[in-house]
Amino acid sequence: MTDGLVIAVDGPAGTGKSSVSKGLARALGARYLDTGAMYRLVTLAVLRSGIDPADAQAVAAAVDGVELSVGHDPDEDRSLLAGEDVSAEIRGDAVTQAVSAVSAVPAVRARLVELQRRLSDGSDSVVVEGRDIGTVVLPDADVKIFLTASAEERARRRNNQNVAGGQADDYTAVLADVRRRDHLDSTRTVSPLRAADDAIVVDTSDMTETEVVAHLQDLVHQRAGARR
Ligand code: DC
Repeated sequence: MTDGLVIAVDGPAGTGKSSVSKGLARALGARYLDTGAMYRLVTLAVLRSGIDPADAQAVAAAVDGVELSVGHDPDEDRSLLAGEDVSAEIRGDAVTQAVSAVSAVPAVRARLVELQRRLSDGSDSVVVEGRDIGTVVLPDADVKIFLTASAEERARRRNNQNVAGGQADDYTAVLADVRRRDHLDSTRTVSPLRAADDAIVVDTSDMTETEVVAHLQDLVHQRAGARR
């Protein structure tokens, strides 16, 4: 029923976007593409080369040489840099702090958007997760979802994750970081974070992950039905 659908899932960090996108891909038997992992891979390559992430010219000059690859399977989304599995390292603090600056560089976006379009192409269904998928990368996607949640709820979720991962319990600092990243992502000149005009906005503040996946599945099935 859902053969060949392209589903864009956009929204800020902390909305449960990754878990929900993977869950949706699993439920639909679709491929999964994590575009945030691609920006993180380029950021790690920049840091490893000793380039200052704030030096946009140097970052732009380096991006073409980055050999990156991401998985397609929602149950095994491994991220590789020149063949090395760096799936854990790209989620670390150093990359998380630098990724907004790197992802604001137009040459980085141009290269990754082109790659994302190629990887999304194919006859099978694909769930593509990011910030600008419905607006820039795949404006013709069959279903566009934009996940939101209040800044407080996103900070609460992230702080809980930090605590579970052995980091300090510091809700106030996490909330400040959520607001800082929101501001950077929504005010940058290239591909600012915003919902596409034809996106379905889903507020996940008061929903469990299972509820969100079920709701998105319904939306996809409605759309697939409307296409016939
Ligand atoms: O979803 P994430 O936290 O892994 O994304 C990492 C960073 O990459 C985040 O700061 C926003 C940026 N990003 C982007 O600019 N465009 C995308 N399509 C995906 C992520």
